[in-house]
Amino acid sequence: MKKILWISMILTVLSACQNETKKEKPKSEPTTQKTAKPSFDQKAYKLKGMVIAKTTFKAFKSKIEAVAAKEGLSGVVDFCQKNALKLTDSMGKAHHVVIKRTSHKLRNPNNKPDIDEEAVLNEYLKLQKEHKPMAPVVMKDAKGYVHFYAPIKIKNACLKCHGTPGQEIPEKIAQLIKEKYPNDQATGFKAGELRGIWDIRFLD
Ligand code: HEC
Repeated sequence: MKKILWISMILTVLSACQNETKKEKPKSEPTTQKTAKPSFDQKAYKLKGMVIAKTTFKAFKSKIEAVAAKEGLSGVVDFCQKNALKLTDSMGKAHHVVIKRTSHKLRNPNNKPDIDEEAVLNEYLKLQKEHKPMAPVVMKDAKGYVHFYAPIKIKNACLKCHGTPGQEIPEKIAQLIKEKYPNDQATGFKAGELRGIWDIRFLD
């Protein structure tokens, strides 16, 4: 059994195809019973994870804004397809971590969740169903690597590309997305819903 350590903090997401971390007041009630004594400094990893997620988001945001100003929303779709994975890769290398974003409803099949990520996603989906807060998680995988997981939530700005096609998603953008991602499942979201998770794996 994996020991999942729930920490009382919530991350919020902003921006186009990246997300930003945001602190919220700690909740007095634990969100799950699955607590265990940490065998490593999970608080330090949590803080590092949040900083890395934020830095990655900032790098992305400045690039996206430049693309959006020049080429509009369809330019951003194009940019995300070509650069989302490259950017998380290079940001990960700079911080000696592996950064991944994954989801229960994928757009890019290369972002498919592994078994641990699936467990975290399912836990968050359960909390969502119960209207409970979703806190970041720090845990070790079977190989002994420490992971930082955090929820990615849908904001209003995300609906332009992850809402309902023909309604929030303009027809032209819906077509472009369908063209680039024929098996896209990442539409039909509502604001506030769980879109996916961050998985930051520490290499040291
Ligand atoms: C301009 C359109 C656009 C907007 C706006 C947008 N996304 Fe995306 N999103 C994409 C595209 C395109 C991909 C696929 C990127 C790739 O190929 O790796 C994607 C992928 C993702 C992924 C990776 C998982 C997967 O399904 O492949 C997450 C998580 C995500 N988006 C969350 C968000 C959130 C949260 C917001 C709002 C803060 C948002 N997106 C806004 C276009 C958009």
